[in-house]
Amino acid sequence: TGYITYDPGFVNTGSTSSAITYIDGDAGILRYRGYPIEQLAQNSTFIEVSYLLIYGELPTPSQLEDFTQKINRHTLLHEDLKRFFDGFPRDAHPMPVLSSAVSALSTFYQDALNPFDEPNVELSTVRLLAKVPTLAAYAYKKSIGQPFLYPDNSLGLVENFLRMTFGLPAEPYEIDPDVAKALDLLFILHADHEQNCSTSTVRLVGSSEANLFASISAGIMALFGPLHGGANSAVLEMLQGIKADGGDVAHFVNRVKNKEKGVRLMGFGHRVYKNYDPRAKIIKTTADQILAKIGVSDQLLDIAKELEETALSDDYFIERKLYPNVDFYTGLIYRALGFPTKFFTVLFALGRLPGWIAHWREMIQDPQTKIGRPRQIYTGEKARDYVAISER
Ligand code: CMC
Repeated sequence: TGYITYDPGFVNTGSTSSAITYIDGDAGILRYRGYPIEQLAQNSTFIEVSYLLIYGELPTPSQLEDFTQKINRHTLLHEDLKRFFDGFPRDAHPMPVLSSAVSALSTFYQDALNPFDEPNVELSTVRLLAKVPTLAAYAYKKSIGQPFLYPDNSLGLVENFLRMTFGLPAEPYEIDPDVAKALDLLFILHADHEQNCSTSTVRLVGSSEANLFASISAGIMALFGPLHGGANSAVLEMLQGIKADGGDVAHFVNRVKNKEKGVRLMGFGHRVYKNYDPRAKIIKTTADQILAKIGVSDQLLDIAKELEETALSDDYFIERKLYPNVDFYTGLIYRALGFPTKFFTVLFALGRLPGWIAHWREMIQDPQTKIGRPRQIYTGEKARDYVAISER
């Protein structure tokens, strides 16, 4: 079988070529389809960025109108799918609930599962972008025992999601434009990040020609882990822990440096960025603005800032090139917007969805794609003879 390269964690292995997202980790550069993340954050919208990632170009006004309308037409869930939520315990974590629900979509749309039928892939794309926010809102409603709200398709994608999440049937829900804008921005910043763990999972599952729903359901579960998307919840739990211990930041940093089991500075470090994560830079400046605008002061923000300052001037972190990543400040913003900690990673999934779809589509259309099937270095027993049970 020849020579096998051993590369745990795929630190040096390019698994694919891709034309979607460019990262220069040393320079702290992130671009979607060539457009700098800073310009998109400043000027674009999540729906436009979704179009850009999936189709490769910014939409013209009529393309954007058409895309938005298509998504609006598909936000409803099948009534039977609503009952699906009854099967979970009320305190279920919303990530496995969301992943299961996305997996279940492949049972409702069996007519559109052929990965090589382009109109059907198009339809599945639209269905996912439209229905995942509804599923996410219902996972939340289920967890707090409130009734599900039907989508209101006169609203934009983010506004609709906010209303289905926080609204009540008997009351009009007033959307705070600052809140909607903040969430839209966070979704833009999360929309793609090339071959991260969840996107690689979507590609690997999809490389077996599994359908788009199945592949994305797997990606959601990869995102769940605390070293990946789950870090945004873990950061908040870490900050709350420091606060409960009397707010001693230096003491916590020492525990991290001593490598106490299970103690990492969550929201710090990145496989690719060995310089400040450009997304964290944008989020940090907007965190202050957003918290001030919606009138929330948060002691945890002060702890986060002190933690960041302490770490950035400490040799342990300097030597290892550990900087804040996208997850360091997002939890504080989500909390200020009213989301419970458990729900933060679901918000990451909503943001990452267009990236996963774009990669799956790129993978399926790429003539170079082969089924993902890594090799291994075998370290087990050499050949030996079977021993009868009576002789063991
Ligand atoms: N706190 C303390 N030490 C760290 C941290 C951290 N957050 N991150 C890395 N290190 C140390 C690590 O112990 C190792 O030290 P040594 O050389 O002495 O063994 C060195 O830095 C290199 O780390 P690594 O674990 O080999 O790096 P990696 O590229 O495999 O891991 C990472 C990247 C993001 C998983 C890791 O930095 C980490 O666990 N960070 C905390 C979790 C987190 O914030 N994840 C979100 C990532 S960004 C968005 C996303 O993907 O969701």
